[in-house]
Amino acid sequence: MPISWALNNEIDSLGGHDKVRFVEEESLLGLDRYGVVKVIVGGICCGLFVMAVHQPPSASGVAAGDEDFVELAPYMTRLQTLTHKLALSLEHDNRELAEFYLYESLEALEDIKTDVPEYRGQPVALLVDRLATPTYKALQAALAKDKQASLEGVSVRSKEAFSSLIKSCNQCHVVTQHAFIEIPEKSGNNPFLQSFTPRPKPE
Ligand code: HEC
Repeated sequence: MPISWALNNEIDSLGGHDKVRFVEEESLLGLDRYGVVKVIVGGICCGLFVMAVHQPPSASGVAAGDEDFVELAPYMTRLQTLTHKLALSLEHDNRELAEFYLYESLEALEDIKTDVPEYRGQPVALLVDRLATPTYKALQAALAKDKQASLEGVSVRSKEAFSSLIKSCNQCHVVTQHAFIEIPEKSGNNPFLQSFTPRPKPE
């Protein structure tokens, strides 16, 4: 506005009414052509700056300064939820649902191995293979036997296999210096499949 207003005033004072109309037509949003160019150039620079500063957030979380760093915790949260639902399915003797969550858990473990094979110096993929996967396979075999036997619910054998699976979670937490993340077999009234009681201090 101010630029075209100044020009209009100047031309008005010269009595050039045709010129006034010309200036009005030429102006865009009250700016003369230099003003328009300035706005466009400013807009492009601003856009480039925003693009340079803003980096798209990664689903798995990227630590500042290291583009390749992937957080393990979100994968564990997912595994915890699936394990919790697996625990509740077994508790309710629902074999079909247990098989479903077992399958989903195995998929989650595969994702961990692919996406976070190593975490802060810990050989995660190797530990999953050595500690966790055998217990999942054992539970899978036990549930398959229950199905074969046309069992109404879930056998003690399957429930024991699940106890070993939970032990493997805790073993891995101990090995990776996260013993304070303790997974129980049942959640009780706790909305999470996790123990929040402080661990007894070593004597
Ligand atoms: C490969 C070893 C390993 C196995 C197997 C493993 N964990 Fe973890 N878990 C970890 C590590 C390491 C962390 C800490 C991650 C961090 O520091 O961000 C962790 C963190 C967690 C957390 C904390 C994150 C949160 O959401 O509160 C939970 C819960 C968890 N694990 C649950 C489980 C459950 C349930 C199982 C078994 C079904 C399991 N973990 C098996 C290594 C393992």
